[in-house]
Amino acid sequence: MKKLIKKIGVLTSGGDAPGMNAAIRAVIRAASYYKLESVGIYRGYEGLIEGDIITLTARDVHHIIQKGGTILKSARSDEFRTIEGRKKAYDYLDKNEVDALVVIGGDGSFTGAMVFSKEYNFPVIGLPGTIDNDIYGTDFTIGYDTALNTAVEVIDKIRDTASSHNRLFFVEVMGRDAGFIALNSGIGAGAEEILIPEEDMGLDRLLLSLEKSRRSGKTSSLVVVAEGDKTGENVFQLASYVEENLPQYDVRVSVLGHMQRGGAPSCFDRVLASRMGVKAVELLLDGKSNLMVGMINNEMVDIDLELAVKEHHKINPEILRVSEIMSV
Ligand code: F6P
Repeated sequence: MKKLIKKIGVLTSGGDAPGMNAAIRAVIRAASYYKLESVGIYRGYEGLIEGDIITLTARDVHHIIQKGGTILKSARSDEFRTIEGRKKAYDYLDKNEVDALVVIGGDGSFTGAMVFSKEYNFPVIGLPGTIDNDIYGTDFTIGYDTALNTAVEVIDKIRDTASSHNRLFFVEVMGRDAGFIALNSGIGAGAEEILIPEEDMGLDRLLLSLEKSRRSGKTSSLVVVAEGDKTGENVFQLASYVEENLPQYDVRVSVLGHMQRGGAPSCFDRVLASRMGVKAVELLLDGKSNLMVGMINNEMVDIDLELAVKEHHKINPEILRVSEIMSV
């Protein structure tokens, strides 16, 4: 597949994440450093199919490293799943003389990138950008650290009012399929219980644990629940269930929602995105394709996109154990 790369395209796809702008900036600046041209593609694959493409230089991406969201905007594209959609995308890349693509997104975006790359023998590199941290092949995804800190900050505030009123709060955080935000924000904010998609705690155990907490003298409690937790009950159903079975508790629910996706990226996410963006450009210059950039033990690594999509990023059981011990 080795072909001379002169112009690189970059797009953001799927759910946005803080730090995506820092990653765009890094790709454009690294391209400029290596004397390559670059373009940005608006609205992910949607924009690619419509030819919504803009030339970007190193100067065009100034003062975006600190901004949340993505200046290129993001979308989920059904048309890119079709052969016709991908053909339109390829034609626009060809017309704009783009030789390679950097896709910043999650596993859905990588699946599209892989199919496209194979179909057209087109070089692509993926950068993991999602607050969920659910991508295999990297310890951290771009946006996760910021979202985690946003969640902890808000849960701390909920703790204040929970404690003033001796209440039990159920707080729902994002994570349709992954419990990284719930588990770590739960530990960080001192939650009594944490419910995640990877582990089935069971409703009975939840009741027992809350009852034990009350008996041990706790006057207020927090339960952090990931959107897709394994009980299969949503946060409101969980709250009603506990209210019915433990009427001593005054229960409230708080859903944090999309606030977790916004805001200025943390320094960690800015640096991670910068390192990953540089690595992506260097891999392309090296003739590599169909890889995702990751960070393992603070080193930049690359793994096959196929593996990144197929495998699951597993929760560290040691962290689960810590959460259990902390809720004593
Ligand atoms: O970015 C991932 C994620 O935050 C999930 O945790 C959540 O379920 C989903 O996005 C919601 O995204 P949207 O509202 O864009 O469909």
